[in-house]
Amino acid sequence: MSALSKSLRVCFEILNELYTAVGAGVLVIGLTAASLVFAFSRDKQRITANKKKVVIITGCDSGIGFSLAQHAAECGFTVIATFLSLDSKGSKEIKRLYGGYIIQIQLNITDSTSIRNAVQTLEHYLSKNPGYSLHALVNNAGVMVFGEFEWQTEKLIKHQIDVNFLGTLKLTNAFCCLLRHHKGRVITVSSHCALANLPGISIYGATKAALSSWSDGLRVEMAKYGVQILTFIPGSFATESNIMGRQLQNVQEMHDNFTAEQHHFYSDYFKRYNIYLSFITPPSEPQKIQDENLYKVFEGTLLDKYPDAVYKHEPLRYKLYHMLFKYSPVVLRDYFITKFMQMPEYTPNTSTDDDFEDLSCDGN
Ligand SMILES: *[C@@H]1O[C@H](CO)[C@@H](O)[C@H](O)[C@H]1NC(C)=O
Ligand SMILES: *[C@@H]1O[C@H](CO)[C@@H](O)[C@H](O)[C@H]1NC(C)=O
Ligand SMILES: *[C@@H]1O[C@H](CO)[C@@H](O)[C@H](O)[C@H]1NC(C)=O
Repeated sequence: MSALSKSLRVCFEILNELYTAVGAGVLVIGLTAASLVFAFSRDKQRITANKKKVVIITGCDSGIGFSLAQHAAECGFTVIATFLSLDSKGSKEIKRLYGGYIIQIQLNITDSTSIRNAVQTLEHYLSKNPGYSLHALVNNAGVMVFGEFEWQTEKLIKHQIDVNFLGTLKLTNAFCCLLRHHKGRVITVSSHCALANLPGISIYGATKAALSSWSDGLRVEMAKYGVQILTFIPGSFATESNIMGRQLQNVQEMHDNFTAEQHHFYSDYFKRYNIYLSFITPPSEPQKIQDENLYKVFEGTLLDKYPDAVYKHEPLRYKLYHMLFKYSPVVLRDYFITKFMQMPEYTPNTSTDDDFEDLSCDGN
């Protein structure tokens, strides 16, 4: 009897699971269809930009931040642009072009005191201007060290994680209270290499992938408080920004920290690699990026009443590459990526240095 009831119960449980699974399946299909219809019908709902909506953008010293700050101001928002240094060329240029129209503050997102000051400045500004609200925090500040993983010192690795990932998290955390009160949104600038990482920037790509993943979880947490979380993936503008501004010092640091074995193994290749990179020079004067599509996508992040989770700006060339990367077998994908990066070719060191036998892997 007890054996029978036991097997009956098992049967019942299996049936129950099946019912639940089928039910869930039908529900998911139904909801997907409904949400698609909903998404299309609300597609065009836009809010209007005005002075009472405040947008704060980090890392406006150069490149994308420098450009987005100007564009957000031109849209009609009150823009607070943050700069690692108020003496930077970007800061001076924005001051020359916009005067007090774009408010400038100094902010180092790895520094807790600096973050606290920024929050206080914004809080003060909002209390002085009744009716104004924090519309968006744009997490843009980031750094990139170009070089193979093995070459990057712990200091260089840590710096990228500290600024790109931890800094963004610390800053957003400090803004959570204001964001909840004003039902603002968080727009985090991610990167195409968060989706498909690339050789030479594996660490940078990993920090961006971490940001995308964090955003995914945070989005659901904050939705119930009316705070919208999204990521913005711009095309590559490394050559138009100062994101690699310290590359020369970084190359020096990598080289200085090579072991004897690494010197022997990489010497010539490392040289050619960095000569190749040296052609990627930032513009001597910060310039606003000229790319209508970039701004169109960015406007969506600020103005869509019901924003998407991810906004991607993707030149046609990128679309093609990404299709290739995504659907090719790994061997082919890696071949395409090598072609895409066009880095110098590695050739083994054939020198018959007598000392070579002594070169060991223990770091000496
Ligand atoms: C940013 O803050 C960190 C932590 O206080 C500090 O180590 C770093 O030197 C600062 N960077 C700049 C450019 O001031
Ligand atoms: C690595 O390089 C930096 C900068 O060139 C130098 O200050 C540092 O002492 C080096 N570290 C080691 C462990 O050699
Ligand atoms: C080979 O290694 C030696 C050091 O052992 C270095 O001086 C030389 O430049 C290297 N040659 C190439 C082609 O990398």
